[in-house]
Amino acid sequence: MSRNMLIAGNWKMNADAAQVDVFVKAVGDALDGAGLAADLLVCPPMVYIERMARALSGQPVAVGAQNIAAEVEPGAFTGEVNGAMLADCRASHVIVGHSERRALYGEADAIVATKADAAAAAGLVPIVCVGETLEQREAEQTEAVLAAQIDAILSQCRAATLESMIVAYEPIWAIGTGRSATPEQAQDVHAFLRAQIANRNATLAQSVQLLYGGSVKPDNAAALFAGADVDGALVGGASLTADSFLDIARAAV
Ligand code: G3P
Repeated sequence: MSRNMLIAGNWKMNADAAQVDVFVKAVGDALDGAGLAADLLVCPPMVYIERMARALSGQPVAVGAQNIAAEVEPGAFTGEVNGAMLADCRASHVIVGHSERRALYGEADAIVATKADAAAAAGLVPIVCVGETLEQREAEQTEAVLAAQIDAILSQCRAATLESMIVAYEPIWAIGTGRSATPEQAQDVHAFLRAQIANRNATLAQSVQLLYGGSVKPDNAAALFAGADVDGALVGGASLTADSFLDIARAAV
């Protein structure tokens, strides 16, 4: 089965309204309404989602969120934003289980699965992140760690969530370090993840998009994308400027 490539930007807690406007103008000028071979997505801070989505209307670029409330129904959850609200702001995707949320905000596998279900229930595509630490890789625990993370999703999430989800492999040691996984390391892990998914659902394993994230730049993107099981990238720092984001996207053919 042929899978589309997706280049997704995760802006994390960076940028301001002016930077959103500069980015959108540059992307609009470069694309002029015409798509690239790869699908494009940008996930700015939550407060800029609607501003970015409105400004990008007519451009082949989707806008997503970096977090979502675990609760589906509105209620007394101070500071939270649910999936329906994100959809109202024109978000189409949401990142869940990013290693920064796991490490800094205590989000374990169970809450990641709940948030993925909450996203899908609101019609949003969950981008589920998994990844190992450097210590785990050096101790040869990479596959065990990833198997546990993906199995939690496969066993806890609803079938409809699994059918709509995207999985992003982000080795923690590669995030923001300038040290990307090698193309071989990325492909090996993606093949492993696809095999893990196939153990549960062979059809899903063929259709699910597997993104690589961790120091993806214009100069290493094409080599990473050559992996048969690498269906695109989740890009942090290099997604903050239109030029580097689009250069990465152009490397995906
Ligand atoms: O979610 C993307 C991210 O964690 C990778 O960040 O800056 O290494 O591309 P970066």
